[in-house]
Amino acid sequence: MFPRVDLGHGVGLRPRHYGEFLERQPKVDWLEAISENFMGTGGRPLAVLDKVRMDRPVVLHGVSLGIGSVDPLDERYLKEWKQLIDRVQPAMVSDHLCWGRHRGRYSHDLLPLPFNEEAISHVVSRVGQVQDRLGRQILLENVSSYLTYPASTMSEAEFTAEVARRADCGILLDLNNIFVSAKNHGFDPRAYIDAMPVEQVAQFHLAGHFDRGDILIDTHEGHVADDVWSLYTYALDKLGRVPTLIEWDTGVPDLETLLAESEKARTLEFETFERVNAANEKAMLGT
Ligand SMILES: [Fe+2]
Repeated sequence: MFPRVDLGHGVGLRPRHYGEFLERQPKVDWLEAISENFMGTGGRPLAVLDKVRMDRPVVLHGVSLGIGSVDPLDERYLKEWKQLIDRVQPAMVSDHLCWGRHRGRYSHDLLPLPFNEEAISHVVSRVGQVQDRLGRQILLENVSSYLTYPASTMSEAEFTAEVARRADCGILLDLNNIFVSAKNHGFDPRAYIDAMPVEQVAQFHLAGHFDRGDILIDTHEGHVADDVWSLYTYALDKLGRVPTLIEWDTGVPDLETLLAESEKARTLEFETFERVNAANEKAMLGT
């Protein structure tokens, strides 16, 4: 089980908005910082992170752990990550359920794993090493994908759920990634959510994508698509209140636009639970 923290609604802390976060206190419940941007460095980025951390919770989200790679875990990376975690005291620490490094070479992409028992054992063992090293649980995020492997013997949802259960780590459920992969590979995104172990899901991501016609591409650009908002309300209904982040990393808009997107998520969450509560009351009254 991964204890769920009731953080509310967050956005990414991105360089375009550093000035505003230094000068005033924009209204947002929590911020996500990309771990690698603050590791082994100092200067303005770290000063901004220290400042925002005094005002609100921060979560650290990484892209380079390579939990599914077969190279040994990068000791230097783990050391710098731990130092940053000790400094920031983040509410959550996450990376991706993927691989991206082989024989010391980085692909710079978050590559999907084959969904089979061998990959589960490998990832579970490495999550154990990382969690022991950090002295805390981590969350792993489902990635969007454009390919599948003949070696897969189960669905992505079954794979993700089994890794989280056995490793006892959290699941960072990126609903846009589920939607993108579902369209690209022809599976039902709602069935994916149905297969998630409620007690392991601890964060949602929402983001924009690009429809190329033949495939969807996960761009983290633009507003969240209507179909993904609809998947969000479905996930809230199935999994309950989960801290939700708006990811907008390409063509980062002004802070007002970004925060408005986050407020839209808050409103949808409120409306969803109003609806659920009304339905429960009606059922209890037997009407
Ligand atoms: Fe994400």
